[in-house]
Order: sequence, then structure tokens, then C-alpha cells
Amino acid sequence: MAHHAVSLQHITLTLPSRAGAVEILRGVDLSVNTGEAIGIVGPSGSGKTSLLMLIAGLERATSGTIEVAGVSLIDKNEDALARFRRDTIGIIFQSFHLIPTMTALENVAIPLEFKGVSNALQIAKDKLDRVGLGHRLTHYPGQLSGGEQQRVAIARALASGASLLLADEPTGNLDQETGDQIINLLFELKEQHAASLLLITHDRALARRCDRIAEVRDGRIISGNHP
Ligand SMILES: Nc1ncnc2c1ncn2[C@@H]1O[C@H](COP(=O)(O)OP(=O)(O)OP(=O)(O)O)[C@@H](O)[C@H]1O
Ligand SMILES: [Mg+2]
Repeated sequence: MAHHAVSLQHITLTLPSRAGAVEILRGVDLSVNTGEAIGIVGPSGSGKTSLLMLIAGLERATSGTIEVAGVSLIDKNEDALARFRRDTIGIIFQSFHLIPTMTALENVAIPLEFKGVSNALQIAKDKLDRVGLGHRLTHYPGQLSGGEQQRVAIARALASGASLLLADEPTGNLDQETGDQIINLLFELKEQHAASLLLITHDRALARRCDRIAEVRDGRIISGNHP
């Protein structure tokens, strides 16, 4: 049987703070089908980014099980998680997270080079062409507009053949029109790569472009957790 792109069962996340333990996620079940786009909405502080960090293997759950592309993340060590992330997941953040001392081309090529791909620069160039940045290859992030930086981040997320795209408020720092362009591009590339997409957004209209919406409140999914 085909596996889910993401399958979370009974996930809790409790982190220490000065004021004592904080229960950030309090029993989350979520399945995302392969090729599906799911919109994650919910108030500030409800746990959306924390959820994304767990799925990306950047944070460890306190309890529960997490499978991504049919692989359990729970018992992987840090090295194995990093490898898994590199091969399977593309992450797109609100604040782009590009390396400031590297050109657009280098930013996209670097994960491929880490992976030992021999034609990393050529692939990176192709991906940047694809997002309309063929004429900005040697620009540094500081020399790119916000929308252009987000295009680089999308090219990077897709360059290594990720089958799962995780986007956290990807248009949060962009004007409406640029944001719309970025989202169109994201959905287009998702289709082309037959990838799954988990999109966190405060924008209900944007969430509605996804196949399904899950609503997070106070560390729980209160609606939309079943396909
Ligand atoms: N490292 C941490 N230690 C303790 N508490 C944390 C930590 N990281 C996040 N939190 C708390 O967990 C809760 C959920 O945070 P999270 O970033 O997941 O919210 P969010 O839904 O993404 O909010 P926003 O829409 O504002 O981005 C918040 O109350 C936050 O203060
Ligand atoms: Mg957040």
C-alpha cells in the first residue's frame, strides 16, 4: 500500500522554559496524502511552526510517532535526520534563510554539493532559470528583492528532488502581488515535481488553494485532520 507523505500520531511536544514546562503540542494526529497540498491555519502561538519543525526532523517530539514518506523519524539519530531532510524535504521560510555570503547560484547548489551531486551547479542554474532568475545567478541575497530571495529559496527547496515541501508563511514578507506570484510558482512546481505541500499561512484565501485545510488551536488540530 502506498504510504502517506506525512503521518503523525498522538504527537506531543513539551519544552522547558523559565516559567516551567510549556505544552506546545498536545496530541496531534495528521495525515497528508502523497501529492496533496494541505493548508495549516491557526492563531499566533498555536503551534504551527513547531509542527513543521517536527515534520522536518528539526525538533524532536516528546511522544508520539512521525512518519515522513513512509520513514519513521523517531528513532533516527541527528546525522540520519540531516541526511533524510536533505534528500526528502524542501523548506521555505518567511525570512528566506539564504546564506548571505553566497550567490544565488551557490545558495541553490550547496545542498546538492553536500549530497555529492556532480553537476550541482548546472542543476542549480536550471532551477533558477525555472523560477525566472536566470539573470541573477551571481547576485548575493542582499542584492535581491524579497520576492527574488523567496524564488531562490524555492529553487533550493526543489533542487535536491524533495518530495515534501514545507512552507512557513512564505509570503509573509512580500507585497500582495509578489506574494501571489510566489504562490503560483510554488503550486506550479509542486505539481511538476509531484510533491506534497504543507503550507502554513494566516491568509484564509491562500489556504483555500490547498486541497485541504487543517486548523491548529492551542496545540491541537481542531478540524481538517482527516483526508
Ligand atoms: N523553544 C521553545 N521553548 C519554549 N516555548 C516555545 C519554544 N518555541 C516555541 N515556543 C512556544 O510554543 C508556542 C507555539 O509556537 P509556534 O512557533 O509553533 O507558534 P505558531 O503557531 O507558529 O505562531 P505564529 O503564527 O506566530 O508563527 C508558542 O506559545 C511559543 O511561545
Ligand atoms: Mg509560526
